[in-house]
Amino acid sequence: MSVRKKLRDILLPYLSSKVDKSLEDLDSNGFLYKKKFFSKIEIKEFFPNLKFCESNIEKKIYLKKLFEKYSKFYKNKKIDVRAKTENHKIDYGLIDIRDPDELQDEHPLRLRIDKILKRIEEYIPNNYIFNHFNVYLYSECFKPRCLHIDSFNGKHLKAFIYLTNSNFEDGVYSYVPGSHKKKFINFLQYILNTIRGSDLGVKSNDGTLYSVESCFSFPAEVGDMLISDQRGVHGDLPCNSNGSGKIVLVVNFLMPNL
Ligand SMILES: [Fe+2]
Repeated sequence: MSVRKKLRDILLPYLSSKVDKSLEDLDSNGFLYKKKFFSKIEIKEFFPNLKFCESNIEKKIYLKKLFEKYSKFYKNKKIDVRAKTENHKIDYGLIDIRDPDELQDEHPLRLRIDKILKRIEEYIPNNYIFNHFNVYLYSECFKPRCLHIDSFNGKHLKAFIYLTNSNFEDGVYSYVPGSHKKKFINFLQYILNTIRGSDLGVKSNDGTLYSVESCFSFPAEVGDMLISDQRGVHGDLPCNSNGSGKIVLVVNFLMPNL
């Protein structure tokens, strides 16, 4: 057993926080979950060209097609689509489309922002301001980024709006409740990763002192919303061969430096 694995086992009881039953306490849990926040009709209004698939097989084929289509935009300056290549060991299977509201009218992932922000902002603390949109497109994402912290110091909230269902086999988003407040452990983890390297991926922000067992996972349906504090430990668990992928709209809010 590796030293890091032993450390994870020792720390496990100290790193798990009790989850607030309502799943709505962003400050104490680090996330807020609202099932059925948007109806399918509303999602269709935001993404008028998006196709809803009834079966898993249909969804898998559709996502594969979209994945291939958007891979071609790699390094497009205006839209910033970042397709990961096979040489990139982590995140293979993920396309990140920045500013989908700038896509041309006929694009399947074209976003009409009309009323969307107003609804979400109701749940965002006042000291955060909207920064930008992304669409994450997952297809056969067998090696996603494992547990990590997005921004060690920066105050960053992401609101994930599900455009497709996301079940366990699709690689669900997971979060260690309360980990955004474990500043000392997170600092220690950062130092350890910097000196000894990460045993999860390649970054100093990897959640190498946290165990997947302490994660809370979020299987989701179209229209669900999850807001998460990106200072906490999180990640998309790998999908399996039965998984059909997922599409998620990400609405980014930042706390400006005052
Ligand atoms: Fe992340």
